[in-house]
Amino acid sequence: MEILKVQKLTKIYNGKVSYKALSGIDLSIKEGEFVGIMGPSGSGKTTLLNVVSTIDSPTSGEVLIKGENPHQLKREQLAKFRRQQLGFVFQSFNLLPTLTVKENILLPLTLDGTGLKAMNLKLADIADKLGIKEILDKRTYEISGGQAQRTAIARAIIHQPQLILADEPTGNLDSKSARDVMELLSGLNKAGATMMLVTHDPIAASYCSRVIFIKDGELYNEIYNGESRQVFYQKIMNVLSLLGGDTHDFSTVRI
Ligand SMILES: Nc1ncnc2c1ncn2[C@@H]1O[C@H](COP(=O)(O)OP(=O)(O)OP(=O)(O)O)[C@@H](O)[C@H]1O
Ligand SMILES: [Mg+2]
Repeated sequence: MEILKVQKLTKIYNGKVSYKALSGIDLSIKEGEFVGIMGPSGSGKTTLLNVVSTIDSPTSGEVLIKGENPHQLKREQLAKFRRQQLGFVFQSFNLLPTLTVKENILLPLTLDGTGLKAMNLKLADIADKLGIKEILDKRTYEISGGQAQRTAIARAIIHQPQLILADEPTGNLDSKSARDVMELLSGLNKAGATMMLVTHDPIAASYCSRVIFIKDGELYNEIYNGESRQVFYQKIMNVLSLLGGDTHDFSTVRI
């Protein structure tokens, strides 16, 4: 079963100088897949995620989520569709500082009018899974980066969306917290969540079941995770070195 299908997707930013950020992208993601998107800085990764998540609209081509084109929905329907079908994790967390951790996590359910009892049950379950039970009543400026990221993930998944979209979810974390977050996302994936993850980090990408590389707004390559994460990591490094761009030397990093 296909959760996401992207067909001939093109995105041109019309500024003083217009710029083609995506050019005829075709891809599909099946239910239960964990797909990484990699590519040099400026290759169009965030643009792709923004168009898929309906934060931005395509210039041409189609996005289908479970066979439905969200870009054709009216504003109110679209807001509901995004709330119910999609979960977002941003690099900058996007938590609301005036709310507590608990209130941030419950936001998608509050907006949908879920009852208090059901909300608290879901919250307890998720807080337990993510190891954030102790900080639920804190405000977001009182918690660490790793805790903020776990809070953002809890908020993204509490309504059990069809598709979880994450842009550099480990970008602001130290390597230990980054690994914890990847273990967590990997666990959610094994429990059935479909995920699309943009990342620069080959270690993070090695947790995916498939990695798609884009270059200059076009598909460049795609590789599957076969034997082990270590072998997959090496394959990712090989493609990155062919791809060039802003890759760093991770050869001494232990995975
Ligand atoms: N709002 C915008 N208006 C005009 N050009 C844009 C806009 N957003 C992005 N671009 C351009 O589109 C291209 C792709 O940008 P995008 O943010 O998708 O890259 P990226 O792959 O996410 O890069 P990074 O790894 O640095 O986050 C870049 O050349 C960028 O300058
Ligand atoms: Mg980006």
